[in-house]
Amino acid sequence: MKTIYKSLAIILTLVLVLSLGACQTNNAGNGTEQELVNGQFVGEGRGKGGPVKLELTFENSVINEIKVLEHNESDYTEPVIADLTNQMIKTNSTNVDIVSGATLTSHAVINAVKDAIKKSGAILTAKEAIQESEKAEDISTDIVIIGSGGAGLSAAVEATNSGAKVIVVEKNAFMGGNTNYATGGMNAAGTKYQEAKGIEDSPELHFQDTMKGGHDKNDPALLKVFTDKAADTVYWLEELGAKLSEIGRSGGQSVDRIHKGPEGMPIGTHLMKVFANQVEKLNIEVRLNTKAVEMISEGNKVTGIKVENKNGDTYTISAKAVILASGGFGANPDIVTKYKPELEGFGTTNQPGATGDVFSMLEKLDIALTDMKEIQTHPTVVPRINEMITEGVRGDGAILVNRDGKRFINELETRDTVSKAILSQEGNSAFLIFDQQVVDTASAIKKYRDAGLLTEATSLKELGEKLKINATELEGTIAAYNEYYKGQNDSEFGRRLLNVELTKAPFYGVEVSPAIHHTMGGIKINTNTEVINNSGNVVEGLYAAGEVTGGIHGGNRIGGNAVTDITVFGKIAGKNAAEAIKGR
Ligand code: FUM
Repeated sequence: MKTIYKSLAIILTLVLVLSLGACQTNNAGNGTEQELVNGQFVGEGRGKGGPVKLELTFENSVINEIKVLEHNESDYTEPVIADLTNQMIKTNSTNVDIVSGATLTSHAVINAVKDAIKKSGAILTAKEAIQESEKAEDISTDIVIIGSGGAGLSAAVEATNSGAKVIVVEKNAFMGGNTNYATGGMNAAGTKYQEAKGIEDSPELHFQDTMKGGHDKNDPALLKVFTDKAADTVYWLEELGAKLSEIGRSGGQSVDRIHKGPEGMPIGTHLMKVFANQVEKLNIEVRLNTKAVEMISEGNKVTGIKVENKNGDTYTISAKAVILASGGFGANPDIVTKYKPELEGFGTTNQPGATGDVFSMLEKLDIALTDMKEIQTHPTVVPRINEMITEGVRGDGAILVNRDGKRFINELETRDTVSKAILSQEGNSAFLIFDQQVVDTASAIKKYRDAGLLTEATSLKELGEKLKINATELEGTIAAYNEYYKGQNDSEFGRRLLNVELTKAPFYGVEVSPAIHHTMGGIKINTNTEVINNSGNVVEGLYAAGEVTGGIHGGNRIGGNAVTDITVFGKIAGKNAAEAIKGR
């Protein structure tokens, strides 16, 4: 009997092995058998920063691993890439949602996966994704912060270090808001880094430059706090891990005052790394994909917010204090044109979430708004794709020419003046022109080149021809500019910073035109960052910091002052909110 069983077992095993062998094909859906694919295949998609290369591992035509081989996307898109690739593995399909705020990166990742699938010849059978339902339970905390950009996270770090329990809500799928896009640097006066370079500066001079740049419309009390605290805030950020010792010039500054990230790296990328480390280290709870939809209040006292999660479910976060750090409204054409109709049709440098949602939430509290008409355009934005070319490129030596190949403005004038000058040129645009020396100064500029934004040529003549501008005039313009450099006197336009002789090939050019950049107006606050209502009273338990507020920048923001604004006032809001709730 035993022998019979043994023989039967061998036969069954053989049948199983043979049938497994036959399983190396599956039904392709049209009645034909499709060979199952195993192994690794590389696919490529084009993102914002250039190619995104991924390696897919297939097991029987099922994606079981996606490795990122190469990409040059912004650092803040890392969680987006991880999330998309995970979803595609889970569902064995490329049918996943694009992440708002990282559209180009999302397309690049999906296209890279599609490319690899095509190369493999695999026909994928989609798996049913198990919907992870997020909890929508009411909770309570000490302080809830709306927005995870530089203002929100400065507040979160300071409040946590002051002993408060904090929850940050962020409507996007990733942290950072507009801070992810900040490129130039952070203005601060009288720092040890300026002193080491022999730059004579003071908070008073920073105050005067900012007042002048803002057409004397700035709130002097807020501005005084801003300029007085800027240097200490640089040192505070350094204690958190930032490196801000490099200094340059932005438009409207009378001295070199803008503190840059290491090796000219975009300041936002640098600071968001620092803040992300702090979030982890201090165990700060950040709820992504969570949108604030309602303020909860009792009379003139704020007691929390209602939020909506990714699944559309709402719940309440009760809190002893709420900090508004949700950014401006530069990506909301309805609010922009309500206050400044002439900006109809303009592009924006802002992240898509900069829509000023909190304003309607605040109506029931009769919050005072200030300077809402003051909306700034950034002069040098690549038309159609709305990619900002940092003011630092001009600070590092670039000039602006029109289609005649001629300069038309002191390139380091304030943004409103340069924007206006560009809009009055033929085609409502101009061209930034610079050489290899300028590219060598900052990694932000190299990124533009790698992303294919720059036109490159071995001579000025060739550059002019490629840009379809007057090449002969361009040669003459650069020759004249180089003479101004040698004599350190721009007799034509009065540019004071003549730091580079534009002689080193290759030469570069890019067409630029103004786009909406900063909304100077917003919620009225006092110097403690407490929110003020239309009766002039403080709203109890409500604080605000960063671009959601108004008054600091007046009629025009100076380049490099936004990062100062979000960190100085974010820190104050976090500290004051934490102190105010102590013992409650
Ligand atoms: O041009 C820029 O890098 C922008 C800086 C800023 O908005 O402060």
